[in-house]
Amino acid sequence: MNFIDELKKYQEIINIELEKYLRKQECPEKILNESIQYSLMAGGKRLRPILVIATYKLFKEDYEQCMPFAVAIEMIHNFSLIHDDLPEVDNDDFRHGKPTNHKKFNHFTALLAGDALLNQAYIVISEKILYLIENQYNDSIKANVKAFNEFTRAIDRMIAGEYLDTQLEGKKISEEMLKYIHKNKTGELLKLCVRMGAILGGATENDIERLSKYAEKIGLAFQIKDDILSEEGDSEITGKPVGNDKEHGKTTYVSYYGLEGAKRELNKTVDEAINEIETYGEKAEFLKQIAMYIKDRNK
Ligand code: IPE
Ligand code: IPE
Ligand code: MG
Ligand code: MG
Repeated sequence: MNFIDELKKYQEIINIELEKYLRKQECPEKILNESIQYSLMAGGKRLRPILVIATYKLFKEDYEQCMPFAVAIEMIHNFSLIHDDLPEVDNDDFRHGKPTNHKKFNHFTALLAGDALLNQAYIVISEKILYLIENQYNDSIKANVKAFNEFTRAIDRMIAGEYLDTQLEGKKISEEMLKYIHKNKTGELLKLCVRMGAILGGATENDIERLSKYAEKIGLAFQIKDDILSEEGDSEITGKPVGNDKEHGKTTYVSYYGLEGAKRELNKTVDEAINEIETYGEKAEFLKQIAMYIKDRNK
């Protein structure tokens, strides 16, 4: 199967899984549930859950076992996007080619849809852990609790990065600060996905560390590419505004190093990511392709 078909296959699997968590029944808060569904099913690339599954599969085949974590991280990601688009933050009107949540619904609904997704992620994971305990799957409990602990910590970092990114808008920042923001805002969640896949798959400490290095590189590459797309992407394809980073006076990889400099850094970082997992050979082909995809994507 070629990479794009395989990516689509996983996107489909994740979409089907996410569907199971949507609340479609009649209830007084029906519109809140609709706004959650609106954002969660709007057509994201599902890169984070795919990373969880692809890394898990380096070690084990039964990837259903890591599915609650895959679903939960996509819920967190969508919570972060809904809040990121709010008028107080990036004030963006479009995402995934559609009006942002607060434009389609309203401000407080978007705020609470984000809160609800954040919490739903914890419901999903805690239920998985409860199930393991109740059924005495003692061998898996430690790995699941460890993955959960890392999950909570990475979200803490994402929020810190998002805070700084917004707080420092329009101000001159150092290269060190730019890297710190990228690492926290975007890198930590992507690294988490790889680490959770490895931990749940029963990887050794050595493997977890090696894969973390790969993940740090693709996390950085991902945000550099996001900055490049914000500068020269096609909003018809990205589904979100182009030029908004500049408009907001954001220091990004592009404003700091220039477009060509950012592209050079992107290429270098992706090459380094691929080098980190060379030792896994054929088995890591899909993870290598993901690194390439992060560089070449146009959305
Ligand atoms: C966009 O993430 C926001 C950043 C963290 C830079 P993605 O590009 O992964 O978002 P979707 O879910 O695929 O739209
Ligand atoms: C998205 O960041 C939100 C988080 C990573 C928490 P950006 O503001 O850089 O991403 P886009 O361009 O809106 O998707
Ligand atoms: Mg932002
Ligand atoms: Mg934004």
